Amino acid sequence: MLMAGAVCRFKPVLILDWGTHIGKSARVFRETIKAFGVPCAIHSIDLPDDVQHGEHPKNERGKLVRGMAEVTLHQGDGVTIALEQCAANKRPGNVLFYVDGDHSKESVVRELGAILAQVPDAIVLLHDTFYQSPDSAYNIGPYAAIEEVLAAQSRTYGTAHHHRPARQGSCCTHRPQRLIPFPCTRSYSPNPAPNSPQANSS
Ligand SMILES: C[S@@+](CC[C@H](N)C(=O)[O-])C[C@H]1O[C@@H](n2cnc3c(N)ncnc32)[C@H](O)[C@@H]1O
Repeated sequence: MLMAGAVCRFKPVLILDWGTHIGKSARVFRETIKAFGVPCAIHSIDLPDDVQHGEHPKNERGKLVRGMAEVTLHQGDGVTIALEQCAANKRPGNVLFYVDGDHSKESVVRELGAILAQVPDAIVLLHDTFYQSPDSAYNIGPYAAIEEVLAAQSRTYGTAHHHRPARQGSCCTHRPQRLIPFPCTRSYSPNPAPNSPQANSS
């Protein structure tokens, strides 16, 4: 929902998505730009085949978007290729980053920090931003990374989130996602008070 909503709201001219995996997120973006007539190029990146990562899809990489004109597949480090593509395809309009690669805090801090340093007006959608205690030992990195990176920014960023309870084995595009829409005047509050507009915006 937040993926399609972000595309309709911000009408990006460029979407930079990683990791590709089998291409679910890239396909969601592709179907959304087609359905709503948003002229936009999608670049989706996953690691090279010879880099070891527990979730690397190997031969299945990008299978849901192969051959689709709107989506260009790349292999390399997600944020590095994304920022290269952003510079190479510079034109007026919003750029949407979809961050769904390695979910360690260190990786997401590096990626989100690099995006905001190079494209401070970026729309950033981060996946698997569970807000839960470290005891869960499950995908606690992205949320912690957002807190750390945004706390270090001199500009303030607005955030929105979509949270549907996860079922085991559910499609990962249904898991919590957090959108950092753009620099704004409303302060970021990492732990919204219960019943605040931010806490109730899911
Ligand atoms: C959770 S899956 C992504 C799911 C995908 N977005 C989808 O909807 O099908 C994580 C993917 O990120 C890739 N990945 C991990 N680190 C990466 C990096 N630094 N750059 C690009 N891709 C990375 C993994 O190989 C894996 O395919």
